[in-house]
Amino acid sequence: MSTQFVINDLKASVEGKEILKGINLEIKGGEIHAIMGPNGTGKSTLASALMGHPKYEVTGGTALLDGEDILEMGVDERALAGMFLAMQYPSEITGVTNSDFLRSAINARRGEGNEISLIKFIRQMEGKMKDLEMNPEFAHRYLNEGFSGGEKKRNEILQMMLLDPKLVILDEIDSGLDIDALRIVSNGVNAMRSEDRGFLVITHYQRLLNYIKPDFVHVMMQGRIVKSGGPELAERLENEGYDWVKEELGIVDETVGQA
Ligand SMILES: Nc1ncnc2c1ncn2[C@@H]1O[C@H](COP(=O)(O)OP(=O)(O)OP(=O)(O)O)[C@@H](O)[C@H]1O
Ligand SMILES: [Mg+2]
Repeated sequence: MSTQFVINDLKASVEGKEILKGINLEIKGGEIHAIMGPNGTGKSTLASALMGHPKYEVTGGTALLDGEDILEMGVDERALAGMFLAMQYPSEITGVTNSDFLRSAINARRGEGNEISLIKFIRQMEGKMKDLEMNPEFAHRYLNEGFSGGEKKRNEILQMMLLDPKLVILDEIDSGLDIDALRIVSNGVNAMRSEDRGFLVITHYQRLLNYIKPDFVHVMMQGRIVKSGGPELAERLENEGYDWVKEELGIVDETVGQA
């Protein structure tokens, strides 16, 4: 059976303020869903709430990954179940090398007694780094420490490629990437497309979607998905902005920062 991820009426708050006001979304294996929307509407909050970031309190709803509610799981369990988030702002971790981090993450997913051999791990890591045109020295650097914005994003995709997740969330993976890196990273994502994996791609720009072709595009405003369509929706947003969506749906702007 191919992967299925179903979010039903998800609500979440930050610091006591409700940001997600009932998100409904269904992603099947093989599908790529894009989410676009103005700044501060809750896109990253959705990503963080799904991954179990402690700052984001889920106040209602379910998120079933192959029938299991990931919202009931701890952060580690979610990763083990196959959830993966490439963060908008990846954290720097001094003292942990990229390769140690990657090997631990892979082994955690594989489980005790089934650890990857060092040789096999190095071969896999080097192969994927080559695909992503990364300098091999990045394996030995501390995780994200001193990485440029684009290097961090490329490293997130390296993690995704090695961890073989079921549900991939990419939060503004295109921000900070140069023109060549955008193509390389997109190729990496496209190579991972499979019936066993669904994608949720958060982006502001249609340009990324020229490379990573979405099956569905959703517009998020004020903590809800207010409109869904195909790739043509992203093109229209790029050309015309969000005003027409607000007019069509009678959405009144709130003060910036009060999604
Ligand atoms: N940890 C936090 N503490 C306080 N407020 C937060 C926190 N995280 C999110 N918020 C608030 O929640 C709202 C939604 O933020 P979020 O990061 O989800 O927006 P976004 O849609 O990803 O925006 P952008 O397009 O700018 O990345 C914003 O008003 C933001 O200030
Ligand atoms: Mg964001």
